[in-house]
Amino acid sequence: MASSLSRAILESSQRASAAGGWERFLSTASWWSHVEPAAKDPILGVTEAFLADRSPHKVNVGVGAYRDDDGKPVVLDCVRKAEGKIAGNLDMEYLPMGGSIKMVEESLKLAYGKESELTKDKRVAAVQALSGTGACRLFADFQKRFLPDSQIYIPIPTWANHHNIWRDAHVPQRTFHYYHPETRGLDFAAMMDDIKNAPNGSFFLLHACAHNPTGVDPSEEQWREISYQFKVKNHFAFFDMAYQGFASGDPENDAKAIRIFLEDGHMIGCAQSFAKNMGLYGQRVGCLSVCESEMQAVAVKSQLQQIARPMYSNPPVHGALIVSIILSDPELKSLWLKEVKGMADRIIGMRTALRKNIEKLGSNLSWEHITNQIGMFCYSGLTPEQVDHLRNEFHIYMTRNGRISMAGVTTGNVGYLANAIHEVTKST
Ligand SMILES: Cc1ncc(COP(=O)(O)O)c(C=O)c1O
Repeated sequence: MASSLSRAILESSQRASAAGGWERFLSTASWWSHVEPAAKDPILGVTEAFLADRSPHKVNVGVGAYRDDDGKPVVLDCVRKAEGKIAGNLDMEYLPMGGSIKMVEESLKLAYGKESELTKDKRVAAVQALSGTGACRLFADFQKRFLPDSQIYIPIPTWANHHNIWRDAHVPQRTFHYYHPETRGLDFAAMMDDIKNAPNGSFFLLHACAHNPTGVDPSEEQWREISYQFKVKNHFAFFDMAYQGFASGDPENDAKAIRIFLEDGHMIGCAQSFAKNMGLYGQRVGCLSVCESEMQAVAVKSQLQQIARPMYSNPPVHGALIVSIILSDPELKSLWLKEVKGMADRIIGMRTALRKNIEKLGSNLSWEHITNQIGMFCYSGLTPEQVDHLRNEFHIYMTRNGRISMAGVTTGNVGYLANAIHEVTKST
């Protein structure tokens, strides 16, 4: 028995040795022993800590997902109605590699305008993408593949995942000034200097509206100047539009930066997401578009599809159907417009309430930026230590950069939040 076992071990070891060495044979758990735990995502880490907190007073203003005035997740009525039309009526076949043609067409109308000459002339290469993140990543991979020596200029600060996306696509990153900590507004002069000083033909990542995390957007006039300078320098503008409709409550108005660039004849790129404005977070539905000549648009689209093919083959169907049904049905579209406005208005109302409540407590600091900033986030100016204080003493959770997701503020918690902010800032 013993000798047949040792013979078996010897034979296996000889096989293992021929296949790559003893260590592998002997160890049953050594394939991934060199893997270190990844750093926690700063935003998702906040949710984990919030969920573990047992306090009945706890408040989560960390995550950028809309909540109603009771703090509950929302499914829009237009989405439920579109789902009603899908249920039992449509098959579950694969979409084409570029996704739903109808969804893409409707997305382009939303971003570029119904009457856009570019889309009418088929000069926009566009594919369905895995929400805004997937659209950015597809573009970053495309940029690396076809302009391997190019770089991307990213605003400081920005949504943290932008850095990860272009890093994993191996596109070198540069930064440009954006936010002015003293005024808690736009550092327009420094931004323009960076645009002027970048090498001609540079790639810039711009937030189309409701900049995350600062809530600070250029004015219309400033966008015009930015667009002009991009023309002079022949820069490429890549717009990340994750919040169309969430800034002003009107998707047309929120597309104004893109429309200004188009009027000026720029050939832009654009990432669209339906996570926030339709509440389709987990459905992962978005669109990537790149403007080109009619002939080149065909080539660009085919290459975008080629990048998608070995990654996920083709995008998911359900969310795409919801979006295309809502945007192509006049009744559902007007319901959607009403509902987006409702979400934006609730957030705007909470900005006013938060500011008023802090001021009422006698704070001698300025809180004007709460109502000046736009969209889902308020870049409060709270220091990392004050954020820790809020978490430890008041069970209020936000990212350590002081970003408050206004979507998590409600009539029920705004007074408590204001009071806590006043307490941690009153001695500064
Ligand atoms: C600026 C910005 N871009 C893109 C996204 C991507 O979101 P999603 O992939 O869920 O569409 C987000 C989400 O928070 C964002 O804030």
